[in-house]
Amino acid sequence: MLRYITGLQPSGALHIGNYFGAVRPAVELQDRGEAFYFIANYHALTSTQHGPTLREYTHNLALDLLACGLDPAKACFFRQSDIPAVPELAWILSTITPMGLLERAHSYKDKIARGLPASHGLFAYPVLMAADILLYRADVVPVGKDQKQHLEITRDLAIKFNETFGDVLQLPEPYIRDEVATVPGLDGQKMSKSYGNTLEVFGTEKALRKKVMSIVTDSTPVEAPKEPAGSTIFQLYQLFAPADEVNLMERQFREGGVGYGEFKKRLFETFWETFRPLRERRARLQADPGYVESVLADGAARARIVAEETMRKVRAAVGLADP
Ligand code: TYM
Repeated sequence: MLRYITGLQPSGALHIGNYFGAVRPAVELQDRGEAFYFIANYHALTSTQHGPTLREYTHNLALDLLACGLDPAKACFFRQSDIPAVPELAWILSTITPMGLLERAHSYKDKIARGLPASHGLFAYPVLMAADILLYRADVVPVGKDQKQHLEITRDLAIKFNETFGDVLQLPEPYIRDEVATVPGLDGQKMSKSYGNTLEVFGTEKALRKKVMSIVTDSTPVEAPKEPAGSTIFQLYQLFAPADEVNLMERQFREGGVGYGEFKKRLFETFWETFRPLRERRARLQADPGYVESVLADGAARARIVAEETMRKVRAAVGLADP
């Protein structure tokens, strides 16, 4: 049976890039193997440095994921910081991590270029992520394309560890679906909290409608034919609409006669209806304040057992404990 792992940072509201890139694939995989899904709150500390906010984001993300169909009866669902072995393995891995490997990480370079302070935590982020994955001896990691390099680093570190200390760590594979590898945001760039171009899964109707209507388009007039391929509206519509509706929109793009405003309205309606059942489930879960905490506590207890098994081997291999 394959083992799956993925994590999401509690760094703000869940958006549809997260949903299609990672959450939906992860929810589908929970039926097919042994799933470990967690809230990466140590990682979020590299950007959210206000205790009450991090706590609130963590709780909200747990609710979001449960509302999206993560089923704690099938998947082990927990908070990263409830597993003390995570920073322990991260430290051990950091001692075999070449500086050059981290210096080449795109995510770090992008964040620095956008003005984030260059902290040690931000630089060492991929090592912590490698620890997350390697601890649970995962086979497959469902993620969006932006995490591909982090998975390569994880594999490099596992290989280096095994070469140095013996065959202890298991090499994971990324699982990235082509059609949702990079969901575009309102401006056509990758959808990302830090670009301010997101559509939230659980936003309010008014705010989301406004956002959809603000999607950037070219200035092709209503009557003129339009090219669907490069259009953010069309790309997003494909994520939600059934095939016949997608075909209809594609034809109307090519024929002309329908304006972008009309296409945006159609996109909004489909988007809003798609998430209706999830919104309803979230409202029900929210009514029981103790539920989320009990799910996360139970998940952490199960995850700690698996993590501890790996750590016993790791400590023995490196000489921190007897074999
Ligand atoms: P994070 O929190 O930035 O994003 C969570 C997941 O959403 C995916 N994603 C996207 N997919 C497609 N299109 C987009 N526009 C888009 N934006 C985000 C991300 O690829 C990710 O899968 N480092 C990770 C968290 C993490 C992790 C791990 C993941 C920590 N430890 C271990 C897997 C395994 C991150 O920052 O994701």
